[in-house]
This record gives sequence, structure tokens and C-alpha cells, in this order.
Amino acid sequence: MTTTSTPTTFAPAFAAHSKDNPTRTAPPKCTYTYQSGFGNEFATEAPGWEGALPVKQNTPQVCPYGLYAEQLSGSAFTAPRGHNLRSWLYRVRPSVCHTPFQRASYDSAHMVRQFADTECEPTPNQLRWSPLDLPEAGKVPFHAGWHTICGAGGPETKSGLAVHMFTASADMVNTAMVNADGEILIVPQHGALDIKTEFGKLYVAPNEIVVIPRGVRFAVSLPDGPTRGYILEVYTGRFELPDLGPIGANGLANPRDFVYPTAWFETSEQPIEFTLVNKYANLLWTAKMDHSPFNVVAWHGNYAPYKYDLAAFNAMNTVTFDHPDPSIFTVLTCKSNTPGVAIADFVIFPPRWATGEGTFRPPYFHRNTMSEFMGLIKGAYEAKAEGFVPGGGSLHSIMTPHGPDAPTFQKASTAPLTPVRVADGTMAFMFESSLLMTVSKWALVESNKVQQDYWTHWQGLKSHLNKDNKEGKKELLKF
Ligand SMILES: [Fe+2]
Repeated sequence: MTTTSTPTTFAPAFAAHSKDNPTRTAPPKCTYTYQSGFGNEFATEAPGWEGALPVKQNTPQVCPYGLYAEQLSGSAFTAPRGHNLRSWLYRVRPSVCHTPFQRASYDSAHMVRQFADTECEPTPNQLRWSPLDLPEAGKVPFHAGWHTICGAGGPETKSGLAVHMFTASADMVNTAMVNADGEILIVPQHGALDIKTEFGKLYVAPNEIVVIPRGVRFAVSLPDGPTRGYILEVYTGRFELPDLGPIGANGLANPRDFVYPTAWFETSEQPIEFTLVNKYANLLWTAKMDHSPFNVVAWHGNYAPYKYDLAAFNAMNTVTFDHPDPSIFTVLTCKSNTPGVAIADFVIFPPRWATGEGTFRPPYFHRNTMSEFMGLIKGAYEAKAEGFVPGGGSLHSIMTPHGPDAPTFQKASTAPLTPVRVADGTMAFMFESSLLMTVSKWALVESNKVQQDYWTHWQGLKSHLNKDNKEGKKELLKF
């Protein structure tokens, strides 16, 4: 196979930051060329193929270099301009060149077809999982290692979401995946993902995320060997930056820190055996091709995959008192039709300063009309003394009580309240949804990863009621 474009070095917004702020370091092996700016209207041609984009029009009678023009629509044609998503791809062969799809199954995948009783169960209990085991090297490619944990709705009605964990240990060789069901946000936790897409290449290391829009073909290689992580899939809409309200024009995830690939393609004069894996209606299908689908020589538009370094997040927090709601740490949101209510929010808990005066600083005890799935990329989460480890997960569903465990409560209730760093070396995150998610039976039982004693971690929270402690003095608490 002949590769006809070569990546060059580009350090997007990272280079100037790491000196003064230890949380800002350039991701390793960031060697591909990227374009920056969330949701921009991009235009890119593979090196050496200048002029591949038609001038002034999208579909000339004959495209430059004899390419095919093809539109990829990410929204209805008639969506309002601010929500309209499409890209034009100029490619060696159109994407329709493949054999009919056949149903496929992979023993290593545990994908839920429908979030119904046969495959899933509702449970109001607090749930926590230990990390999934990494598969033996060379055994499981990315497309075959999805394990659905929980979800609601489904692709048929383009409503709802799914939470998956993935494990993988083999490169996708002459194989591409495409997800017709929704947009996916991938959080690698262990090992990097080297991703080919129709739009170019993305190198995504742990502490970065990548978003692959519905319908974009991609293939994952594993430069660090076996890998593990999380996938948030939304069947409706797409991920957007949250509104900032009184915060103003800047802060949280800044648009320029989202980077998109530049055009890159591969082609060969001889037919090759290539497999296209299509996730359609939460089932896997395969079709054969005699060429690589990564044959887009140039593209323009606003519908493309992108990645983001979580270390670029500009966290906001209190400088007076009380613990803000975790929505202050929202990176991306997939909105529902109700203002302010998300199908899914992606929220992180990055390294930062805690300065709250007279404040119980960890997350408060609460019950929530939303569902909260949490994961941990690295380090130790500040609200849990033990048991929540990197690669694991937890689910606190609608109105399921949760909060800091007993040791964390004791420590935070008695700690001196000087300004302190929290979460250094740590990156916890949350997939939060307004929907009630049922849990796959695989995750509940067959995975054998549910921590059965999770509920006991709160049982040491005893009464501190004391008529003589009206002022709430920590010295009078008896642990
Ligand atoms: Fe919570």
C-alpha cells in the first residue's frame, strides 16, 4: 500500500503552557498535523495534492485529479445554520463501493442491542466496578472489544445514550469501523490510540479524548500495546461546548484547544482485502471492500472527528465558600430539547486549587435527578478513599444517594482549611445524563467486576448530633 501524504509536527496550543503550570504538558508523540478550533469550517488538502478542493463549488462535473465528490451529512439538510453539519470529501473511490453487509458477532464484545429486560436490568443501587482485564496481546481489535455498561433509549429513535468500556489488544489491520448509531466520545485510560480516519490521523493518549461523529470511518492501532478505556455514545444530537453564562467569553474548555485532522490518504493500485465493520442498530455488520476507505485526498466542512487534551481545561471554582455543583467542570455537552438539561454531559475533575473557606470541600452528599457514571483515568479521586481505581467505574442512578465515604468525611471535616492543591496526578470524569439508564446483565453479573461491598463504604457515617455543638465546631465531632 502506498501512503501518499506524510504527517509533520504540530504542537497546537500546548507549547507555551507547561513551564508555569505543571498540569499543562504536551501529549507525547503528538506528531500529526492538526487544525484547531471547535466546530470551525475547515478546508484541507493532503500534502502534494494542492488544488484537490474544487474552487467555488462542491460538485464540478469532473473533480480535480479525477476524484469523487461525496457529502457526509451530520444533521438534517434543513437544520438551522448554527446546527447544520456537513463535510465534503474528495476521494479516490466513493464510500458506496463495498459488498452487502452481513451480520457479524465477536465473542469478545458485549454490546447491548436494546436497553430492555432481556439484556439489562434497572437498579437503584450504588454500583462500582473494578477495572476490566486487558486482553492478551494481539487478540482483540478495538471494534471487537466494546462492553456496554448501561444506557437508555436507542438508535432507532435517535434518542438516549450508552456507556461502554472498551478493551483492545490488536491493531485494526485492513479493517475500519463506522458507527451509524451515534456520536462517540472515547476516553482512553491505559495506552494510546493511533487513529486513522477518513479525515486524517489523530493520536490520542490517556488524558486526552477523541470524538468520532456518526458515520465517520476509522481504524485504531495501539502503539503502547493492550489498551482500555471508556466510550460515551449519544444517539441524538452531538457534543457541543457548554454555554458559559456569567463566566463570560473564555474559560472551561476553550475552542482553540480542540484539534482536527488534516487530509491524509492511502491508496494502492492493486486490490486489497479490506473489512468494513458497521455498528448499526447496536449490532455489528461487516462488508468487504477491495480498497482502503481512508482515501480522502481533500475535504472541507464542519463535520469531522476531533481530539482534546484534558490538561487544557481552564477550571473555574469558588474563591469564597461552598462546593459548586460539578457542572462547573463540564467539557462537552449533548443537549436535550429541554433548555439546560443534557442527554449527556462530559465532566472532569482536574488538578486544581481548593480554597473554600469554612467549607466541607469534597463533593457534598446528594441525590440527583440525573444519572452519574464516573470513571478514573489516573490517580486517586478526592471523594473516595479507596476502591475507585483507574480503569474502574461507578454508577449512581436517578435519586440514588451518594457522596464521600466515611474516611473522606472524617478527613475533610477536620482538615485545616488552608489553600491546597487537590487531584494532582489525578483525572476523574463523569458521564452525566438526565435519563434513567438500565445496566447490562454482563456488567452486573458476567463481568464479575461489580464490587459487592460498595454500599458498606457509607455505613460508617454515624450520627454526630450534639446539642452542645450549635456552632458546628470540628473539635466537638467524635469519630
Ligand atoms: Fe454525584
